[in-house]
Amino acid sequence: MNRKQFLSTGALATLAVCLGACKDDEGGNTSAPSGVNFTVDLNDAANASLKSTGGSVTKNGVVVIALTSSTYAAFQANCPLAGTTINYNGTGFRCPNHGATFDSSGNRTSGPTNSNLKRYTVAVAGNIITITG
Ligand code: FES
Repeated sequence: MNRKQFLSTGALATLAVCLGACKDDEGGNTSAPSGVNFTVDLNDAANASLKSTGGSVTKNGVVVIALTSSTYAAFQANCPLAGTTINYNGTGFRCPNHGATFDSSGNRTSGPTNSNLKRYTVAVAGNIITITG
């Protein structure tokens, strides 16, 4: 095998891997956490970012975001496509693996998945946020 053949074969192999990982035409390859039931204490220093609009905390496979300084939402933290942990940037989510994006309501806005993020139920009582779903 010469250099040109080697490079050609490598490029095809890489393309095949990418297409396999990104072929989500039917929703997703990974599932969101189920049976979720936990609390987040806003008095805990580890959760301090939730006191500001755009902050987020990831726990138990769920990312909790601060829509305002006193209202919250929670979504699966793993990308529906291949399970990569997504990042919240204060206004939406982005998967660093293949670039899927979702708005702050968890709706897909671009990228290789057709799935939205699973949204969990959030209840706030004082400084305790309870996430279930
Ligand atoms: S794992 Fe591929 S877009 Fe998220």
